[in-house]
Amino acid sequence: MRLSTLLPTLVLTALTFAQTISGPTDCLPAGNYNLCQNLWGRANLHSRYFMFMVGIVFRRQSGVGSQSSTLTSSNGNNIAWTTNYTWANGPNSVKSYANVESSVAKGVQLSAIRSAPTIWTWHYGTQSQGIRADVAYDIWTGIARSGAPASSASSYEIMIWLSGLGGIQPVGSPVAQGISVAGHTWDLWRGPNTNWQVLSFKNVGADITNFNVDLNQFFQYLIQNQGVSSSQFIQSIQAGSEPFTGTANLVTSNYSVSIGT
Ligand SMILES: *[C@@H]1O[C@H](CO)[C@@H](O)[C@H](O)[C@H]1NC(C)=O
Ligand SMILES: *[C@@H]1O[C@H](CO)[C@@H](O)[C@H](O)[C@H]1NC(C)=O
Repeated sequence: MRLSTLLPTLVLTALTFAQTISGPTDCLPAGNYNLCQNLWGRANLHSRYFMFMVGIVFRRQSGVGSQSSTLTSSNGNNIAWTTNYTWANGPNSVKSYANVESSVAKGVQLSAIRSAPTIWTWHYGTQSQGIRADVAYDIWTGIARSGAPASSASSYEIMIWLSGLGGIQPVGSPVAQGISVAGHTWDLWRGPNTNWQVLSFKNVGADITNFNVDLNQFFQYLIQNQGVSSSQFIQSIQAGSEPFTGTANLVTSNYSVSIGT
């Protein structure tokens, strides 16, 4: 085999080698993404990161358990991963947000977005009875071109729930019900948080396990109906799961997001 044909083979092998992270703050860069464990609610009662992502009373017993995330494959703008967790106690407390964050789909003003295509194909490989967890995008916008999620730079936190099991609810209260956006039906929840507004599209009906949409339709809906300024910048797009309690093997077989201007 000539070196020129051997090299791509080696690269592909490296890209598809499964790696597992299990520490509370572990992250794994892969292609255009960063896969992070983010066990913010496990024991650190004072963590601000996502502390208010969902409308919860942050109780003292925040929970016990464990979680690991495995990078299954990565190929440029497509990524596949699994998250395994077991969480108990603090039924109203989010324990973590295992997620992938795009390192390229950001820094664009809403008015400049022509499309923001995303696909997310996922399922529960296993799940305990009565599990309380969401599977959701967490999209951060602000006045500045860049800013960390859940920071002083955040103006809006836009969540898109593809699943919310066990009676959990987004921040705030419903401001629109049964709305159709991007070919799916949602209830829109809205409420304030630290220094930003949370706008959550919560799926109505069955889990959406094969999501293939243009996120710009959500942004345009919010500009037209919720007073979100089109001069806001996308600062971060994340996709993952917030477990409260239960045991699960959550499998994402294909995920991608990009912004076209
Ligand atoms: C995650 O759970 C699945 C299903 O139970 C199992 O096959 C896999 O080995 C687990 N992964 C890790 C890293 O524990
Ligand atoms: C993932 O989705 C992309 C489209 O964005 C497709 O081209 C690719 O074949 C898919 N990969 C897998 C493993 O299904």
